[in-house]
Amino acid sequence: MASVLAAALLCLAAPALAGQDMVLGRQVAARVDAPTVAATRQPRSQYLLHCAGCHGVDGAGSAAVPDMRRLGNLLRLAGGREFILKVPGVMGSGLSDAQVAELSNWVLVTLAGSSLPAGHLPFQAAEVAQARAKPIADVGAERRRLVEQATRLGIAID
Ligand code: HEC
Repeated sequence: MASVLAAALLCLAAPALAGQDMVLGRQVAARVDAPTVAATRQPRSQYLLHCAGCHGVDGAGSAAVPDMRRLGNLLRLAGGREFILKVPGVMGSGLSDAQVAELSNWVLVTLAGSSLPAGHLPFQAAEVAQARAKPIADVGAERRRLVEQATRLGIAID
């Protein structure tokens, strides 16, 4: 009787052990040997941790934060490519050059893919290092300069 009960309980537990589909992804069953701190290496996780608080999960931003879903249009402007790497949220993120390259590439392709210019080349760590070595003194003024340039060219970035 006890073994029948144990088998029945095992059957009930099996789907839970295999993991369960949840709204935000797959819920993994708890394990005694699971690491206590999950490594955050995926660019999407980096985005959620470091950027989504201001930019929103979908990159839509708010009244005070620009919409990143058209970020590819910045790449069509002189100075726009490096500006993406030099905004305060990126400069002060604490991420390594390689992580910033990976995260920026992820943002461009995943959130702003439809705005990417043809022939766009992804960021590399060396380019991030170069950009970070020369920070922008006045980000607001630089963005206004880019907006003026975009308006002249009929490109929508705001
Ligand atoms: C504290 C809020 C905040 C956080 C966190 C933040 N940003 Fe921003 N971001 C802004 C604001 C505000 C702007 C508008 C430019 C400015 O005034 O700095 C901006 C502008 C940008 C731009 C330029 C877009 C444009 O149209 O000018 C990019 C690219 C960007 N952020 C990327 C990121 C990434 C990637 C992260 C995460 C590593 C991040 N930001 C984190 C607030 C934030």
